Amino acid sequence: MKKLVRENIENINPYKPGKPIEEVQRELGLKEITKLASNENPLGVSPKAVEAMRKSLGEVNRYPDGNSFYLRDKLARKLNIKPANIVFGNGSNEIIELSVKAFLYEHEQAIMSSPDFLIFKLAVLQEAGKPREVSLDNFYCNLKGILEAVCDKTKMVFIANPNNPVGTYIKEKGLEDFLNKLPEGIVVVLDEAYYEFARDAEGYPDSLRFLERPNVIILRTFSKAYGLSGLRLGYGLANEGLITALNKARQPFNVNYLAQAAGYAALDDDEFLQKTLKINEEGKIFIYSELNEMGLDYIPSATNFIMFNVKREADAVFQEMLKAGVIVRSMASYKLNSWIRVTVGTKDENQRFVDALRKVVKGEKL
Ligand SMILES: Cc1ncc(COP(=O)(O)O)c(C=O)c1O
Repeated sequence: MKKLVRENIENINPYKPGKPIEEVQRELGLKEITKLASNENPLGVSPKAVEAMRKSLGEVNRYPDGNSFYLRDKLARKLNIKPANIVFGNGSNEIIELSVKAFLYEHEQAIMSSPDFLIFKLAVLQEAGKPREVSLDNFYCNLKGILEAVCDKTKMVFIANPNNPVGTYIKEKGLEDFLNKLPEGIVVVLDEAYYEFARDAEGYPDSLRFLERPNVIILRTFSKAYGLSGLRLGYGLANEGLITALNKARQPFNVNYLAQAAGYAALDDDEFLQKTLKINEEGKIFIYSELNEMGLDYIPSATNFIMFNVKREADAVFQEMLKAGVIVRSMASYKLNSWIRVTVGTKDENQRFVDALRKVVKGEKL
């Protein structure tokens, strides 16, 4: 009998989303849950975006604008680039998928770091491409290793800068050398989901300098610093040729009505963005100092999350933290068996996280 499911799909180890918070709360009988697992914005949603969505709610009987005209125009002006250099997606996640769909043949290889954002590998497998993982070098993207891994089958390279889950970044000089050395005809997807948090870090690339290269796609998102994860809105920036290809690979109405309205308004809400960046920086300083006190190593992060070493089974620590009402992310699935990733929260959330961690690490009963 013919197999129904394509082999490449059958073999995928699926992404495991967590249970709804309310369900975890009910199961464990917890009064309060602090979710610090998905690098979301702890301040909520930009009030300007909420207002814009409210105004648009009564219009969702209409399909959205298939070109995101106003959002595109506003973003282009903000970034000082042409509207034709932008493609919008249902989250930047979708643009990862679109790029594989548009550029990678089945027999071709896409290189990515290990660990790095899981979706790179998943998107490649979904299109029956060949992922090739290159280990990080002491927690930093191993650009030299990636160049060495390039072969005649290589068609794409994915780099999250900063890296998720580690939080480290590559600097402009290193990135530019890498791009110069990479053989022609390889598409580089530079995922800057945490751009707003990282952009002032020393040496962080001004990647728009690479926009007119024939092979570079920069990804950014409204999910993190702009607090719109639940709406799914991200974008890719590249030369017109690549953008045209990505547009051909997408659905005509891939970005929904509310997302366009909210994204447009969020771009104007500098106050919300600045607040977000401020509490994130303060939160990181607080968590670093608490981890230092607990004698736990961490990787300094250019993002809104921190990866740290609990020197015990991360999965067990995750479970104990959960019982204490704090959801973090175990890195065991990345083979970092004693590492946990925590999203930086509000002051109160960070305190609750630290209090729970202290008890768990000491082995106290919660
Ligand atoms: C590196 C990286 N890229 C992309 C995304 C996905 O972002 P979006 O919500 O825009 O799909 C994430 C989300 O966690 C991420 O960490």
